[in-house]
Amino acid sequence: MRLRWTSAVLSPLGCAGCVGWQSAMDPQGPQAEHLHRLIWLFTGVAAVIWLLVMLSLALAIWRRRDRSDEPVVPTNAARERRSAVVVFMAVGATVGVIAGLTLASYLATRQVSEASAEPLKIRVQGYQWWWQVSYLDPAAARQITTANEIHIPVGRPVNIELAAADVIHSFWVPNLAGKMDLIPGRDNRLEFTVARPGQYRGQCAEFCGLQHAHMALLVMAESEADFETWQNAQLAPSAAPDSDERRSGRQIVTGKACGACHTVRGTEAAGTIGPDLTHVASRAYIAAGVLPTTRGSLAAWVADPQTIKPGNNMPMVPLTADELRAVSAYLSALK
Ligand code: CUA
Repeated sequence: MRLRWTSAVLSPLGCAGCVGWQSAMDPQGPQAEHLHRLIWLFTGVAAVIWLLVMLSLALAIWRRRDRSDEPVVPTNAARERRSAVVVFMAVGATVGVIAGLTLASYLATRQVSEASAEPLKIRVQGYQWWWQVSYLDPAAARQITTANEIHIPVGRPVNIELAAADVIHSFWVPNLAGKMDLIPGRDNRLEFTVARPGQYRGQCAEFCGLQHAHMALLVMAESEADFETWQNAQLAPSAAPDSDERRSGRQIVTGKACGACHTVRGTEAAGTIGPDLTHVASRAYIAAGVLPTTRGSLAAWVADPQTIKPGNNMPMVPLTADELRAVSAYLSALK
């Protein structure tokens, strides 16, 4: 990934080791670039105004330093006129600057929300506290459902339909676009294009309960060929278990409570409350960015989800040590 000065400066602030850089100051597509320019425009104008105000203040203090006995209010007509002109000019400049910034903001927003002709359509639904990601292919057989990870081809516009299953969330991938709320009962749309391949981290940007801070997502921008490979792998049903341990793991996942909430395509597990697990091991993280996907973290999560992410909707399913080993072996093979 390209490393800009912003990344170099900001990485000690907490993102040094994370997968997927997250910064609105490092735009990776046209929509993010419009917003980035707007940030600098506002910062630049505000900085210049602040400097002018400070200079005027310093100048006024300097000029009055030896005249503390004179009245502050001008006493003759000429000085009064001069003061009035200065005040009017300042008011005029303020109105002009605010109008200019409003116009710039309006134009940037318009450019950011321009719809394109044939975007890749994805529906993202926010849950407490994870993201369901569905690819809306016109052909029903080519629709994919996954979680917390959005694969997109570089250079192709992506149109994301945003919905909420429970409370208000907000979709924010700072390198790619602005924020957009997910509101129950009202679908929003967000469109963006990614210019360079990479992994871009995003997160929920609207307080949505206890685990709001643990509601991350990853956007994997890849070449058209890599995207197609990923798409075809995701379209396939879940991998069949290739060992006795994994076979018994599948039996537990489909036979115990797991299947009531999770879908594993190709098995009887068809629940829709929790994330689709058909290809769970192909994703970089589980639990919306909380743990990297390894057999160990899958076992830890299944063993005690409430300690890892208190308040989430996954109950603890009582399993013996052998059952837990089998389940983690099975899940970690669902590539
Ligand atoms: Cu979802 Cu904050």
